Amino acid sequence: MTDSQDRPRVVEPPLWEQWAAKSAELPQGERLQKVLAVRGWGSRRVCEDMISAGRVTVNGEIAVLGRRVETEHDTVEVDGVPIGLKPGLVYYLLNKPEGVVTTAHDPQGRPTVVQLVPEEPRVYPVGRLDQATEGLLLMTNDGDLAHRLAHPSHGVDKEYLAEVEGAPGQGAVRRLREGIELEDGMTAPAKVSQPSPGVLRITIHEGRNRQVRRMCEAIGHPVNRLVRVRIGPLRDAALAPGKWRELSQAEVNALVEAASEGGRPIA
Ligand code: URA
Repeated sequence: MTDSQDRPRVVEPPLWEQWAAKSAELPQGERLQKVLAVRGWGSRRVCEDMISAGRVTVNGEIAVLGRRVETEHDTVEVDGVPIGLKPGLVYYLLNKPEGVVTTAHDPQGRPTVVQLVPEEPRVYPVGRLDQATEGLLLMTNDGDLAHRLAHPSHGVDKEYLAEVEGAPGQGAVRRLREGIELEDGMTAPAKVSQPSPGVLRITIHEGRNRQVRRMCEAIGHPVNRLVRVRIGPLRDAALAPGKWRELSQAEVNALVEAASEGGRPIA
């Protein structure tokens, strides 16, 4: 085909084909040394050395430094052992009942979350819920993951159901969504809906002290009951108050992924 100057006309492929070609060029997955490091196989430097030494395989083939992997699909092994979880690490999801304190030891002798899970190996709560707050709490002896999850820049989303006094109007809900001035500064934008009058579903990724209660107080609707229903990818509506269960390998992987994505703004 030619145009009016008799030059051959360049026929561009349709846009969706251009996008597909572009995204195929983008690097996929996480760097192998990072995946190994966040699963507790040593510092990134140590993990790089393991890769350079040819000790790490991906889908049965010796990996080279710089290799990216998608942990949902790729099988990664070190010295022939699936990376899975570092031996000895445990991850519990507890449904904390009201009245139990989130600490390893309480000088006032109140019941603690540590008393609700097995004594050995010793695990620690990741973050905290107020004594009056109910719901999901992660407990683990994986200090590296706990540290990442607790760090505000990695903070994963946490979703709460709050029963509040009265029924907040649209303006009040908008203030929660957009960020609200508290005594320790503005809150980041939050996801907020009101599934029924007086019940707010609030998702935040910051972990400030009594944050949800203070946000609701600030709009004139103090919290009567607060339940955490999700931590990043973890939910479990069937877990009874006071009960715990171990996370599946897939859940731990999803948590590690969520913690390494960094805290994205919610709204
Ligand atoms: N926000 C609160 O106000 N309390 C909690 O326990 C957790 C989040």
